[in-house]
Amino acid sequence: MSRFWSPVVQTLTPYVPGEQPQMQRLVKLNTNESPYGPSPKALAAIEGQNTADLRLYPDPEGAALKQAIAKLHGLDANQVFVGNGSDEVLAHVFAGLLKQNKPVHFPDITYSFYPVYCKLFGINAQIVPLNENFEIKTADYQTPNGGIIFPNPNAPTGRSIPRSEIEALVLRNKDSVVVIDEAYVDYGTESCIPLLRGANCQENLLVVHTLSKSRALAGLRVGFAVGHPALIEGLERVKNSFNSYPLGRLAQAGAVAAIEDQAHLEATSAKVIQTRTKLIEQLDALGFATLPSTANFIFSRHPKHAGAKLYQALRDRGIIVRHFKSPRIEEFLRITIGTDEQSNELVAALKEILS
Ligand SMILES: Cc1ncc(COP(=O)(O)O)c(C=O)c1O
Repeated sequence: MSRFWSPVVQTLTPYVPGEQPQMQRLVKLNTNESPYGPSPKALAAIEGQNTADLRLYPDPEGAALKQAIAKLHGLDANQVFVGNGSDEVLAHVFAGLLKQNKPVHFPDITYSFYPVYCKLFGINAQIVPLNENFEIKTADYQTPNGGIIFPNPNAPTGRSIPRSEIEALVLRNKDSVVVIDEAYVDYGTESCIPLLRGANCQENLLVVHTLSKSRALAGLRVGFAVGHPALIEGLERVKNSFNSYPLGRLAQAGAVAAIEDQAHLEATSAKVIQTRTKLIEQLDALGFATLPSTANFIFSRHPKHAGAKLYQALRDRGIIVRHFKSPRIEEFLRITIGTDEQSNELVAALKEILS
């Protein structure tokens, strides 16, 4: 605390990211990173950069990256916004599109950065509870709002809803923007990007993606949003009032090559899905109850063992998962899907802990 802090800084409750421990020999299943490396083509593109060029500013527009994203998703380049991780993209979305007179709506159990942005930007939020099965019910989002945002699949639950339901929500919510955070879409969820193609592009839908999960580039910090060109223009205005060069040269080069290597994404996501199915079965056998997941993580609890205790017992064995001390979910563990070997280590440790 300092008397030099601005009034807003005094009121902030910053987001606490999952731990990035420095311990060696660790089974790290706490921040939904990919257990497989990024596309070798992305690494080669980064290594192939002329480091002497680092004295020069990068392309402030990220034009080549926007082009690659537009091509992959069947969009125009003016429908794409890029940023330094999807967290930065989301920050601009809150400041530029969701700060309205009416409150923004999002679920009670969701990505915990959303309320943090609301505090930072002075945005009123209306929290909409998930139902008793931890599902988002779009019918609960009918009240007047200055925007709606949720991840699909939702985090940390892993549950998703079909595109048709989101389309119906977008159509009946014409006067404000619906933001779908698709950070984990590549593990079996229907993307809403098709609703943005061609003449039928929904003008009040924005879809946010990251290269941190299925493209295994969390350390490069690249995210993007796609939507109607007018929404993208609003985000560009915010970005150019904040930091005009959010993506460095290495990040842009690596991201273009990663976006172009869809085959790598599909192969690694398929492996994650296989491991997820097997892990859920193994946890079932140990008496865990796991929510259905279309993400690269699962949300699981044991009826007889407290979440906090399980978290600590795993940690003592060098296995790090995520535990949230929040109402409704404190008995759950959020477990990132790792390799089969990591999964087996987790299951072996849990067997020992429960015995
Ligand atoms: C739902 C959701 N959205 C966005 C992000 C931010 O991802 P990044 O800033 O790495 O792109 C995360 C990260 O965990 C997330 O869980």
